[in-house]
Amino acid sequence: MKTSGGFATRAIHHAYDPQENEGALTPPLHLTSTFTFETAEAGGEMFAGERQGHIYSRISNPTCDLLEQRIATLEGAEAGLALSSGMGAITAVLWTLLSPGDEVIVDKTLYGCTFAYMRHGLAKWGVTITHVDMTDMENLRAAVSEKTRVVYFETPANPNMRLVDIAAASEIAHAAGAQVVVDNTYATPYLTRPIELGADIVVHSATKYLGGHGDVVAGLVVGTAEQIGEIRLVGMKDMTGAVMAPFNAMLILRGLKTLALRMDRHCASAVTVADYLAAHPAVKSVSFPGHDSFAQADVAKRQMAQPGAMIAFEVEGGLQGGIAFMNGLQMIQRAVSLGDAETLIQHPASMTHSTYTPEERAEHGISDGLIRLSVGLEDVADILADLEQALPAPVQHAAE
Ligand SMILES: Cc1ncc(COP(=O)(O)O)c(C=O)c1O
Repeated sequence: MKTSGGFATRAIHHAYDPQENEGALTPPLHLTSTFTFETAEAGGEMFAGERQGHIYSRISNPTCDLLEQRIATLEGAEAGLALSSGMGAITAVLWTLLSPGDEVIVDKTLYGCTFAYMRHGLAKWGVTITHVDMTDMENLRAAVSEKTRVVYFETPANPNMRLVDIAAASEIAHAAGAQVVVDNTYATPYLTRPIELGADIVVHSATKYLGGHGDVVAGLVVGTAEQIGEIRLVGMKDMTGAVMAPFNAMLILRGLKTLALRMDRHCASAVTVADYLAAHPAVKSVSFPGHDSFAQADVAKRQMAQPGAMIAFEVEGGLQGGIAFMNGLQMIQRAVSLGDAETLIQHPASMTHSTYTPEERAEHGISDGLIRLSVGLEDVADILADLEQALPAPVQHAAE
């Protein structure tokens, strides 16, 4: 059973009929590594691709299959694939698409482990990695060539919130014969659907908003049925083995049911928090797509339904000021990851982006004083109160 309807309806009902499953409201968890064949011939036909069916859970599993159909409908794609982590998803896609001699053009800002995989992983196998500042599409236009196989970016980018214009990047990449892979972890399909804007493949760390509760590490990919089939059999089955466990698929299916609700709350609270931070005298700068000062407001307006809930900011006093502020927080948790119910804060230069050298961070726009805040689902007044007590009080000048 497929389902029509709006985003939240499909996130709850798509591709599942309780009447086909003993009336169970919640889809069954298929905890099985392998699947039996009715006859030896049937097994042979499945291996030859002449008969549909599950063979072994490193290739497919019914619980993961349901999640794959759900993320595909939410992203507006033909097909989806469930993997063990966001990094499993990214590596399975790129090991499938690339060969030695190919070039990947990537944005200047990337999540630290994606950066490390490109620079220290793919580069070792003869793939050229070219970093381009994709906040200006002319840079991408000048960089693409017949060697370019993939254009890869995050939008918003982790951690400094730079945006990339998905439609414009897709047009330029396609004209050069390259494919576009977008990491949509920060925005989620509730805010941005890259496939509808021209991208070819979308990857996710489902560990974040899609799971939403900080209890699972998981990855997802969507694209055409043909490409997803290839990534399943090459990148996932053979090259990485980075398959999602069925229990984790259950957790992500549960998370998706409340994605729309959670994102509305995350985004509304983040607007309040960003306004508060931007007005605070101890805060030097704020980068948030929902704030008036955001440099790429036009791109945000075009491709994000709401501004998201990730805020990058710097406090006065540089690195030491930032560390003192973070250590003063009481409810807000010092932790990497994002998109959880809990508000999380971290320091990219020493944590998620420590895979960059200091010179690389300077070159790629990740300053040492930058702090990354993932605005959670607590009462926004309590988030503000914790920030307020941890930020240095404005200097009081004695009355004349
Ligand atoms: C934007 C982005 N992409 C990918 C990943 C990797 O995901 P995972 O930790 O699930 O492997 C992360 C993790 O923080 C991320 O922030």
